[in-house]
Amino acid sequence: VLLASRPAGWVSEQNFRIEDAPLPQPGEGEVLVKNLWLSLDPYMRGRMNEGKSYAARQEIGEVMIGGTAGEVVESRNPKFAKGDKVLGMLGWQQYGLSDGKGLNKVDASRVPLSAYLGVLGMPGVTAWVGLLDICQPKAGETVVVSAASGAVGSVVGQIAKIKGCRAVGIAGGGQKCDYVVKQLGFDACVDYKAGALNDDLKAAVPDGIDCYFENVGGDHLQAALACLNPFGRIAACGMIAAYNQAVPGPDNLFFIVGKKLTIRGFIVSDHAHREPAFRRHVAPLVRSGQLVFSETHRQGIESALDALLDVLRGGRHTGKMVVDL
Ligand SMILES: NC(=O)c1ccc[n+]([C@@H]2O[C@H](COP(=O)([O-])OP(=O)(O)OC[C@H]3O[C@@H](n4cnc5c(N)ncnc54)[C@H](OP(=O)(O)O)[C@@H]3O)[C@@H](O)[C@H]2O)c1
Repeated sequence: VLLASRPAGWVSEQNFRIEDAPLPQPGEGEVLVKNLWLSLDPYMRGRMNEGKSYAARQEIGEVMIGGTAGEVVESRNPKFAKGDKVLGMLGWQQYGLSDGKGLNKVDASRVPLSAYLGVLGMPGVTAWVGLLDICQPKAGETVVVSAASGAVGSVVGQIAKIKGCRAVGIAGGGQKCDYVVKQLGFDACVDYKAGALNDDLKAAVPDGIDCYFENVGGDHLQAALACLNPFGRIAACGMIAAYNQAVPGPDNLFFIVGKKLTIRGFIVSDHAHREPAFRRHVAPLVRSGQLVFSETHRQGIESALDALLDVLRGGRHTGKMVVDL
């Protein structure tokens, strides 16, 4: 799947083109990977824009960027052998060639391979770094996370609970909030679609908010600012509400001053050095079932656009969105 044009506003089918191409042959030092799983992530929308961002833009006419998990089918690189399970950034395609740089072998014998795109992959590291390094919650504090049922949010709340905090999620719809409380073990969840986000959040955090993990922006940030305690911390991870359209910003930013808040944005790729510590901590929790995760699986490469739209709009997936290629 190639990027055919840049979207203005919401992404649509017209922005993509599917092409068939002959299977590439690996040259000296190269590896041919059969991509089994494709990860769909909010950052993809930003890469489709013309403008400058924190990472290089997606070029028109090239294979859409994307994290993949797959199996080596042919190797002319001594570091990889046929049958190795590998993670890479091989994009929206069924096979990919790699020179081995950025390709990582993983052990899929004890957790499903797709989990390395979610709970044990980039979204998991994002949640872990953002919560523990940026927000630095202490036991007994209240942590609130928006987009709580998603790939990042679901891990944030569970790690917060493991650290002895009160974890409160914000998610869209009663079903998602049930999932957040009953399956993920959060203490409470606010359904922002019920139409009373400010009041409902206030009621869910009787002791105020000490750490706010921001994934959405707009009205969610406004509601959180009103409830944050003095010296509260905000880990600004994402603002998905604004990725496809402009949304009004909070009108209560003065709380940052009056409450002496710390807001720190972060991009997970700057924290790669923390990945070994993340894996040491989180992999055993996942294997033992102490940290639960869910994945929404879509079938076939043709479903990738719909899957991306569902990630950007919300409402129809829980946990990590992946396409079974
Ligand atoms: N800083 C970094 O390095 C980094 C790395 C990874 C991800 N992120 C950010 O982390 C956030 C979550 O990413 P993810 O991969 O875990 O995605 P996700 O939560 O699995 O999916 C996105 C969710 O966002 C919610 N959403 C979308 N539009 C919304 C709106 N207008 N208002 C409220 N909620 C909305 C939807 O949940 P509902 O169905 O509940 O509405 C949707 O399911 C995103 O902002 C992403 O950009 C940042």
